[in-house]
Amino acid sequence: MNIRKNEFAIYETGNSKNPAIIFVHGFPYDHLMWDKVIAGLSSDCYCITYDVRGMGSSIDQDLQFTMEDLTDDLFYVIDKLKLNKPFLCGLSMGGYISLRAVEKEEFKFRGLILCDTKSAADNDEAKLKRAAGIKKINESGIQKFASEFVENCFAMESIERLGEDYIALLGRSMNTNPEGAKACLLAMAARTDTTSYLSKLKLPALILCGENDNLTPPAVMKEMHEQISNSEFYIVPDAAHMSPVENSDFVCEKLRSFLYKHQ
Ligand code: MLT
Repeated sequence: MNIRKNEFAIYETGNSKNPAIIFVHGFPYDHLMWDKVIAGLSSDCYCITYDVRGMGSSIDQDLQFTMEDLTDDLFYVIDKLKLNKPFLCGLSMGGYISLRAVEKEEFKFRGLILCDTKSAADNDEAKLKRAAGIKKINESGIQKFASEFVENCFAMESIERLGEDYIALLGRSMNTNPEGAKACLLAMAARTDTTSYLSKLKLPALILCGENDNLTPPAVMKEMHEQISNSEFYIVPDAAHMSPVENSDFVCEKLRSFLYKHQ
């Protein structure tokens, strides 16, 4: 069952009496990137997802925002649904939000799942790439920017295998609100570095990285795993940067056993 609520586009699937898990999507996507994972988990879990501010249907808010606002939005969704210690699962930009959220208020969560993300802040090279992205959106439009960005996130074999599903996802990304996309790029460029918190983290953590992820490579995520005391790390086969979309079966299986172990 999907229910849309007020200002943020919030979606709930499954029985609210089951353990709750909240999914935070990456850039430039929307909540639907979690569809297959949620379909695989919703008989045992209460699955919540939402469109991050500026993305998908969450475009009615102030579009000048920082990573702090995106983190507070996550807490807002948790409070609004009165979730009691949900698991938190974020991909890439959703991982940046999740890492900052646990750094701020770890006690609010039961466990952390990080997919294809990193704790390091943007270095100068990455900041210049964000600037070039904003320029591209201004000069050539969101469609051109999104089509190039999204293609770079997927393994070529995944694009072929996913077929219509990839085309639908790409179409949604190309339809992203350009002001929202530029605001997310700026928020990511200005985010803090959460690496020093990894060794303090007490929550159980599951770390998943696509074997061919060039944006947040396995070696980077393995280093994060080595710093988080209670963590498991798996490389997702047949996937690049969008592992929950490219190999949802593998991601679901790892998530299911992690949630079962820590519920
Ligand atoms: C994402 O998938 O959310 C983006 O690759 C994050 C980023 O650009 O840093």
